[in-house]
Amino acid sequence: MTKESGKTKVEKPKGKLGILLPGLGAVATTTIAGVIAVNKGISKPVGSLTQIGRMRVGKRTVKNNPLISEVVPIHPLKDVVFGGWDIYEDNVYESAINAAVLDKTLLDKIKGQLVKIKPMKAVFDPEYVKRLDGKFIKKGKTKMDLAKAIMKDIETFKKENKCDRVVMVWCGSTEIYIQESAVHQSLAALEKGMKENHKDVPPSMLYAYAAIKMGVPYANGAPNLSCDIPELVELA
Ligand SMILES: NC(=O)c1ccc[n+]([C@@H]2O[C@H](COP(=O)([O-])OP(=O)(O)OC[C@H]3O[C@@H](n4cnc5c(N)ncnc54)[C@H](O)[C@@H]3O)[C@@H](O)[C@H]2O)c1
Repeated sequence: MTKESGKTKVEKPKGKLGILLPGLGAVATTTIAGVIAVNKGISKPVGSLTQIGRMRVGKRTVKNNPLISEVVPIHPLKDVVFGGWDIYEDNVYESAINAAVLDKTLLDKIKGQLVKIKPMKAVFDPEYVKRLDGKFIKKGKTKMDLAKAIMKDIETFKKENKCDRVVMVWCGSTEIYIQESAVHQSLAALEKGMKENHKDVPPSMLYAYAAIKMGVPYANGAPNLSCDIPELVELA
C-alpha cells in the first residue's frame, strides 16, 4: 500500500506472494493443503472469504453484491508460495497427517508438494508454551540475535522462492498471558529489552518485530500479545 495525497492506494498484486507461517500445525497445514488442492482443481475453496465471499456495494436496496475478489486486488492463489517455522522437524505432509484435520486420501493426492515444504528452525522458549518440548530450535545469546536470525530466514526464503512480496501470519501455539508493560511502549525500550532478554518479550513478538522491520506485513492468528503493542503498531 502507498499513500498519495492523504489517500491510500492499494497496489495490484504482482509476481509471487510468499506466506510465511510461524507454527506449521493444524491451522497452517490445513491452509497450505487447501490452497494446493484448489490450485490442482481437486478441491473447492469452500468457506474462503477471499475466494467466494461477497460484499455489498452501495445501498442495501440496490442489491449489488460482487465477489470481494472482483473489488479488492487479491493475489491469485496460483501465485502463492508457503514457508514457515516449527519446533518439530516434520514436513507439511507429516504434520497434516498428524493434525488429522484433512482426509489422508486428499493429502496423498498432493503429497509431492506437501513434503517439499519443510520448516525452518523455530525461535521458541518453553517458558511461554509450557507443554511443548520440540528440539528444532534456533540458538542465540539474546532475543535480538534470534530476531535477526528470523530476518535472515525471511530474506533467504524470499530470494530462493523469487517472491515479490511476503507476509507473515502467526499460526503457532498460544503463549502464556503477558501484561503490556514499559518494554512495549517504544522501539528503544523494546530493542533494549530484546538485547537484555526481557521476560515480557515472547517468541511471537520476535517474529512480529523481525517481519515488520523487514517491511513484511504481520497478522496474528492467536490471542498472544505478539504484535498488539503500541511500539510494533507504530513501527508498522
Ligand atoms: N483465530 C482463530 O480463529 C483461530 C482458530 C484456530 C486456532 N487458532 C490459534 O492458532 C494457533 C494454531 O492452532 P493449531 O490448531 O494449528 O495448533 P497446533 O498445536 O496444531 O499447531 C501449532 C504449531 O505451532 C508450533 N509452535 C509453537 N510455538 C512455536 C514457535 N515459537 N515457533 C514456531 N512454531 C511454534 C507447534 O509446534 C505446533 O506445530 C493457536 O494459537 C490457536 O489458538 C486461532
